Amino acid sequence: MYDKTTFKIKENPVILGLESSCDETAAAIICGRTLLSNQIISSATEQAKYGGVVPEIASRAHTEAVANVVSRTLAEAHMRPDDIDAVAVTYGAGLLGALLVGLSFAKSFAYALNIPLIAVNHIRGHMAASYLIDKELKPPFITLLASGGHTAILHTQTPTKFKVLGGTCDDAAGEAFDKVARVLGLSYPGGVNVEKLALGGQNVVPLPKCLVKNSQNMQFSYSGLKTAVINYCHNKEQKGEEVDKANVACSFQHAAIDPLVKKTAECAKRLNVSTVTAGGGVIANGYLREQLSRECAAYGLKLVLPEKKFCTDNAAMIAAEGLIQYNIGNFADLSLNAAAAIPLK
Ligand code: KG4
Ligand code: ZN
Repeated sequence: MYDKTTFKIKENPVILGLESSCDETAAAIICGRTLLSNQIISSATEQAKYGGVVPEIASRAHTEAVANVVSRTLAEAHMRPDDIDAVAVTYGAGLLGALLVGLSFAKSFAYALNIPLIAVNHIRGHMAASYLIDKELKPPFITLLASGGHTAILHTQTPTKFKVLGGTCDDAAGEAFDKVARVLGLSYPGGVNVEKLALGGQNVVPLPKCLVKNSQNMQFSYSGLKTAVINYCHNKEQKGEEVDKANVACSFQHAAIDPLVKKTAECAKRLNVSTVTAGGGVIANGYLREQLSRECAAYGLKLVLPEKKFCTDNAAMIAAEGLIQYNIGNFADLSLNAAAAIPLK
């Protein structure tokens, strides 16, 4: 392994990012905060046959794709392996078998090239995507994070320090989208299909908002909203009435997204933080993007909103978080293991 005692931190290192926590095998290369290449091979079509991600199928698909996706990303960046200064890899949270494929590849790559290995928390990757979109971005900023496993509003104070201002007390927003998709008979991946269906509907179905009313008013709950959608559909069916699925999708989308967006902007205003960022698969939702842009503009806040492809799982964000860890010399050793669940911090 590289010699830790003599290793020198470079100003604009070339970092290879690797992501394999779920059904996307992804590799990207950055030089400093400039994205040079970004490749993804997805097993989503295969997973759709089963209505969701089957861990064993995901692991096998990663095994088949990982070398290929790295070759493609090197070719796109016009680089050879020995141009890479460090390898950043998702070590958690995610499907254990899937994570192990990317992690094993990253370890071998780092070992063979004698370069540092960087362990990246997937969720912090989502939070770091914005650094590539706006190269001037620096803390403090407020982040709306909404993925399949997490929903939170965070206050990033320094590149490595953040505070959770509020979050969900049960299901994550993406999880609710996926469950509602099932109830509406939509195929995997659920979130984007709910969004498509909602385009033809109206917000006319009475549903509870996902905001928990308490003294701080900063907690969200998606399980009640999800149950309300299920009950609404079942009641209609029992009465022999037709369910207007587009209206249900549209109403759910409003109930799930409006409070999140509103609270994010309110937090920024209350804490006197002028910049808002966002990350996670749900941020790819067109309605959320519109509302967040509108709300930030209304409050006079700057919004750094990554393109949709950098909101859903990708390796550019893993490289971006890798850069933060690289800059403080936080390198992992080759005994690093994958972890199915890790705290946000
Ligand atoms: O960040 P992500 O790709 O993976 C995790 O880290 O979980 O997020 C996946 C989640 C899924 O629940 C998916 O349904 C949701 O993000 N999602 C969406 C959209 N695209 C992905 N939800 C709503 N609208 C979308 N367009
Ligand atoms: Zn993710």
